[in-house]
Amino acid sequence: MTKYIVKGGKPLCGEVEISGAKNAAVAIIPAALLVDGVCRIENVPQISDVSLCLNILEQLGAGVRSINRHTVELDCRHIHSTRTPYDMARRIRASSYFIGALLGRFGQAEVAMPGGCNFGGVRPIDQHVKGFTALGAQVTVEGGFIRAISQNGCLHNANIYLDVVSVGATMNIMMAAVLAEGNTVIENAAKEPHVVDLANFLNSMGANVRGAGTDTIKIHGVERLSGGNYAIIPDQIEAGTYMAAAAAAGGQILVKNIIPKHMDCITAKLQECGVVVEEHEDTLLVRRTDPLHKTNIKTLPYPGFPTDMQPQITTVLSLAQGISLVTESVWGNRYRYVDELRRMGASIQVDDKTAIVEGVDHLSGAPVQASDLRAGAALVIAALAAHGESEISCVHYIERGYENIVAKLQTLGADIRAVEFPDEGEELGIG
Ligand code: EPU
Repeated sequence: MTKYIVKGGKPLCGEVEISGAKNAAVAIIPAALLVDGVCRIENVPQISDVSLCLNILEQLGAGVRSINRHTVELDCRHIHSTRTPYDMARRIRASSYFIGALLGRFGQAEVAMPGGCNFGGVRPIDQHVKGFTALGAQVTVEGGFIRAISQNGCLHNANIYLDVVSVGATMNIMMAAVLAEGNTVIENAAKEPHVVDLANFLNSMGANVRGAGTDTIKIHGVERLSGGNYAIIPDQIEAGTYMAAAAAAGGQILVKNIIPKHMDCITAKLQECGVVVEEHEDTLLVRRTDPLHKTNIKTLPYPGFPTDMQPQITTVLSLAQGISLVTESVWGNRYRYVDELRRMGASIQVDDKTAIVEGVDHLSGAPVQASDLRAGAALVIAALAAHGESEISCVHYIERGYENIVAKLQTLGADIRAVEFPDEGEELGIG
């Protein structure tokens, strides 16, 4: 197993290039199934969740060709199966997008119940199912697979009101509807940048999707999507993570290849903490030299503060003067990393959905374990800021969503390295 060894306490300094957005890539890759042609996709992040999506696509019969490190060509003209391999699909949440895409193009899909980071319980897909059913599909669960099938092989228009704002349901229904008959409307839709990116991708292939980025999305079904080129947007959360790292460890970094508007919700909160953030066309300069101030944060769907930045910002606040309150309102339980931060000297109490964070003077390095992707990112930030050495295990979670995090941090002057250790899974009770 790989662990990260981090010697903390060094300010970060230099430039970091942000990769393509994970949560856009893991939707756009399955969405290529809707395209009766070749799509060339640029700015694809090299992370394990993306590799898994590409593998699933290949297993279904797609041609997957790497053009260079961040560009792939996907050819879905000769798909021979509408059933995703069980063990691959159950490992990631984004495998649910294969349902919308396969159903939309072929009128049927069988996909293993999706997995992904566990935030304290099963992650529901009832809103996805509500949408597919409204479009005329029959959805059942059999043998661990979700099976969706349309009557007469064809879906029809629907008006779908989502009971909760769901990124996944919005994107999945959008995929199922682009080739359906008539006009479909999704109300109370999610507005995240990756929802807009998926709509832009589909439109560039010939779809007719309007209103993505607002809470009403209108989809006029078309007969066919054909191939084309598309570049994925930069990753808002990866950028926010490096900004939080500079805030916690101190120093000055230039975060490159971003869309500043997407960063507003994160920038505003870091500024409240006393971090200097200067916005340029597609870069942000982040500087922290003075002590951090407390602030309060509540996670919300976009354009609110993203839940995927909650563990990272809580880590920053664990070093801010005073008491900060962090409220998680998207997921039921996303505080599993707090016990690990406490091992490093943080003073955080969790009361249901709220973390009460009393800033401490410093954190100290310790052996800690990542419990999911963003929890892992939070531990990396804590380790960079801490006095002494930390050893972070279960970093495969981090590598699901952060391309080359070790090399990128090394470029910023961090003392971090990835080291192979004999597998201790059973001893730690992970398996
Ligand atoms: N929900 C339902 N029913 C549904 C779907 C969702 O009740 O059918 C609830 C969830 O339980 C949750 C809320 O709605 O309380 C929001 O869930 P959403 O569907 O928006 O989340 P998701 O699509 O499963 C994506 C990201 C997550 C991110 C959330 C929220 C992907 C692959 N994952 O998940 O990203 O936390 O949106 O923004 O896009 C991450 O990148 O670390 C990550 C976990």
